[in-house]
Amino acid sequence: MSGPEIVTTVAALRQRVSAWRAEGSRVGLVPTMGALHEGHLSLVHETGTRCDRTIVSIFVNPAQFAPHEDFERYPRVLNADIARLGASAELVFTPSVVEMYPDGFATRLEVAGPALGLETDFRPHFFAGVATVVAKLLLAAQPDIAMFGEKDYQQLLVVRRLARDLALPVEILGGEIVRETDGLAMSSRNAYLDAHEREIAGRLNRVLKDVAARFRAGESPDAAEASGAKALAAAGFDSVDYVAVRDAETLASAASLSASVRVLAAARVGKTRLIDNMAA
Ligand code: PAJ
Repeated sequence: MSGPEIVTTVAALRQRVSAWRAEGSRVGLVPTMGALHEGHLSLVHETGTRCDRTIVSIFVNPAQFAPHEDFERYPRVLNADIARLGASAELVFTPSVVEMYPDGFATRLEVAGPALGLETDFRPHFFAGVATVVAKLLLAAQPDIAMFGEKDYQQLLVVRRLARDLALPVEILGGEIVRETDGLAMSSRNAYLDAHEREIAGRLNRVLKDVAARFRAGESPDAAEASGAKALAAAGFDSVDYVAVRDAETLASAASLSASVRVLAAARVGKTRLIDNMAA
């Protein structure tokens, strides 16, 4: 089975994509930070069903980590990632940090709207770092579509808004969350969990389901959120950043049952911060 071509510079990526376009190919991009798991692979597969050529970017983006966060210890397993992709992607774009942020790099994209609140209350640097790197990746690869997972639901909305606001000629698509059998959303960060923490982590999704059920049964968002936060503490989480019942399109407070509603949560077990969400 042939593997993907490996490209490390924006110039070489552009050259390859231009050649594909010249032959009339439809191009898709799946941005990742590597340590690929089934969640990533489902995005790659979905992109493959919609495009002739699939690009996977693998870049641990320093701009979206705060100094105290896990940039240094984030798993980097490029060879294993390439092997996992096999023939499901034509190209892996894996630039160095200086390729993406050359000396003197001074640009940072600030998104408001869906970026306000939730993750931003706990990781204020995060979405500007994501928006900057995603814009750069989209401009470098110029894909017809780019796929992002609903696992990072707020990120998906931020990227959609960024693409719309800058009129980027790309369609942003969301892919469903891929879970372990106990409901834990797959994540590269799950590798940090020891056996005891892993068991606790599996309870996050169950608590979200309960919050969604309470809201659907007529409990107020405030009451459903409070019961969720309490349940997470009881389940063994060391701290709860948020449990939120929100409008699925805007992430504003969920006003009524008629709107489409999303339940989102972030909590810590040991040193690991987990996020998850689901439709209510
Ligand atoms: P990363 O965490 O590697 O995730 C890459 C993509 O895979 C994201 O769109 C994410 O939502 C999706 N994903 C992760 N786990 C998933 C799961 N269990 N089911 C479905 N999709 C899942 O998110 C990032 O990287 C970065 O912020 C990035 C967008 C690449 C910018 O640096």
